[in-house]
Amino acid sequence: MTFTIAIDGPAAAGKGTVGRLLAARFGFAHLDTGLLYRATGRRTLDGIDAVEAARTLERADLEAPDLRTPEVGQAASRVAAIPEVRQALIDFQRAFASRSGGAVLDGRDIGTVICPEAEVKLYVTATDDVRAARRLTELTGVGHDITYQEVLQDLRLRDARDSARSAAPLKPAEDAILLDTSLLTIEQAVAAAIAEVERVQRG
Ligand code: DC
Repeated sequence: MTFTIAIDGPAAAGKGTVGRLLAARFGFAHLDTGLLYRATGRRTLDGIDAVEAARTLERADLEAPDLRTPEVGQAASRVAAIPEVRQALIDFQRAFASRSGGAVLDGRDIGTVICPEAEVKLYVTATDDVRAARRLTELTGVGHDITYQEVLQDLRLRDARDSARSAAPLKPAEDAILLDTSLLTIEQAVAAAIAEVERVQRG
């Protein structure tokens, strides 16, 4: 059985958390596609050409310890605007999506470009303030010295770049269900997502 859940949305909206918990609930595999771009961006900070970095990405690159930093996030957003970088990462993502047993992928272009035929498409959003506050808690929780204003600026810069690029820009698929998590707890957001998957499964 293949069944694909595509989750897109701006930075720090809760896509990863919703994706991980949905995957656990349904016994599906989960791929955070942002990690592919972060690992590619991370390698460019070591001086490797972006397209070369994407084409030669290895599993160990996805396990680098500092992929979640704002600096690597910005590098990821920059390399993600390069069509050849995106092209180099398509096959891996599509193969993951079509594995048997079901898959959840979260990113920016899953419902629009990577898996336009996904059975379920969610577009997860939250206000800038809520996203910045959540990301600040995450980052300071693992010891980063960063202010709310810096986090807010970082998210806005990435969202603007990710939305304005011509290659697979961040936008909801026409048939995506919008899930605004601004006023929701994690449990409520996941419950809403589960309800949508079950609605589709019932046919
Ligand atoms: O989801 P994230 O914040 O870890 O993603 C980091 C950057 O990678 C994001 O700013 C844009 C890019 N990205 C993308 O262009 N397409 C995806 N499917 C996932 C991430």
